[in-house]
Amino acid sequence: MDKLLIEGGTPLAGEIAISGAKNAALPLLCAALLTREPLTLTNVPALNDISTMLKLLAQMGVKIECHTVPAAKVGAGGAAFAAVTLDASGLDHPVAPYEMVKTMRASVLVLGPLTARCGEARVSLPGGCAIGARPVDQHIHGLQAMGAEITVEQGYVQARTTAAGGRLKGARLFTDMVTVTGTENLMMAACLADGETVIENAAREPEVVDLANCLIAMGARISGAGTDVIRIRGVERLSGTTHRIMPDRIETGTYLCAAAATGGEIRLTQTSSSYLDIVIDKLMDAGCEVTLEREAIRLKAPARLHAVSVRTAPYPAFPTDMQAQFMAINTVAEGTAVIRETIFENRFMHAVELIRLGADIKIDGNTAFVRGLQRLEGATVMATDLRASASLVIAGLAAQGETLIERIYHLDRGYEQMEAKLAALGARVRRVK
Ligand code: EPZ
Repeated sequence: MDKLLIEGGTPLAGEIAISGAKNAALPLLCAALLTREPLTLTNVPALNDISTMLKLLAQMGVKIECHTVPAAKVGAGGAAFAAVTLDASGLDHPVAPYEMVKTMRASVLVLGPLTARCGEARVSLPGGCAIGARPVDQHIHGLQAMGAEITVEQGYVQARTTAAGGRLKGARLFTDMVTVTGTENLMMAACLADGETVIENAAREPEVVDLANCLIAMGARISGAGTDVIRIRGVERLSGTTHRIMPDRIETGTYLCAAAATGGEIRLTQTSSSYLDIVIDKLMDAGCEVTLEREAIRLKAPARLHAVSVRTAPYPAFPTDMQAQFMAINTVAEGTAVIRETIFENRFMHAVELIRLGADIKIDGNTAFVRGLQRLEGATVMATDLRASASLVIAGLAAQGETLIERIYHLDRGYEQMEAKLAALGARVRRVK
């Protein structure tokens, strides 16, 4: 398995381009299932999760054509942004098998589109420890309210529409908690339902809005995306379109944190600050100077950060996907930070690894107390999940000496060309087998 070797202590400096958003690209790829016409997505990030989703769709009968964008359009920092055209006219196997789903929970995003398009779907429950029946119960309840008959047997969700002609029916849906992919699944299913669907307590994440904008371009009739009430008036069919995927706000925030923790000064292009208000506010509270341009963000870090406390919650509050990165920057800040995680019940797995680097962190339930130190000492650490790995990279960059991060396949799921981008910012990092 690959490892990342980091020689810490160098302030990051320079400019890189941000890639397309993983968490927008994944539902957008599934939107192709809703139409017989080709859907072209541009600014597609080259990530393992994206190739996993493409493989999943291809085995259903979706024809996929990947093409890189002419060199002239290559973003600064050398990232070649790819485009993908998906043609689901030959969709004939509405099944998402366990061996593919177990590596990526987001595979559940095919459930709504397949049920709406084919009148049936057979999707494996995601595998893994932190789940069980719970994490997709809202997806299931919503589809049942729209008239789907759903059974869960041998680890598979089996859905079929009961109405004549296989169409779902519009319904008023309430989710017990804010769920991003739950909102996306139900919004996609509602596009082809007979009648109007209202989703109350909907997720307001920018990736939900990006998906809605693409669906509207395909002929869907959606209003309220970005608010907690989304209305969808079903149509008979959707057409194809070409849609550019929004920039990745979490990748953006991750590099801003890496510069903040190393006392650096960087500029991120092909991105937008409009979805990162609270993250940028927190970085400014920590003592960073942040300058916002139309499609770029600059950050100049102080010699040493002030500790900054965060509490995660659904958008527009502080994103849970930035919690691990903020724990990392607080390990070398001045003062003590309180980090409260309210979305996931066990999202502190990075804390014990940061403690191996010398960090002073106390965990009490869903709260972490981080007392900042002058410096961390490099060590060997292990990545456990995508954003936890990012926090270890940040801490390794800030630490003195060498840090070796194991199991970095987690990183490859969500960060395009991470070591190349870090190297372009002057970091001493390399991938070792
Ligand atoms: C999305 O996951 C993101 N993934 C996650 O990003 C992100 O952390 C999460 O939203 C929260 O912002 C994608 O968009 C592909 P949820 P999702 O449904 O949709 C519970 C990353 O690092 N729940 O909003 O799966 C659930 O257990 C990933 O890029 C149910 O109980 O998250 C969690 O506690 C990690 N039943 C909470 O709700 C359900 O049916 C929020 O989950 C659905 C969710």
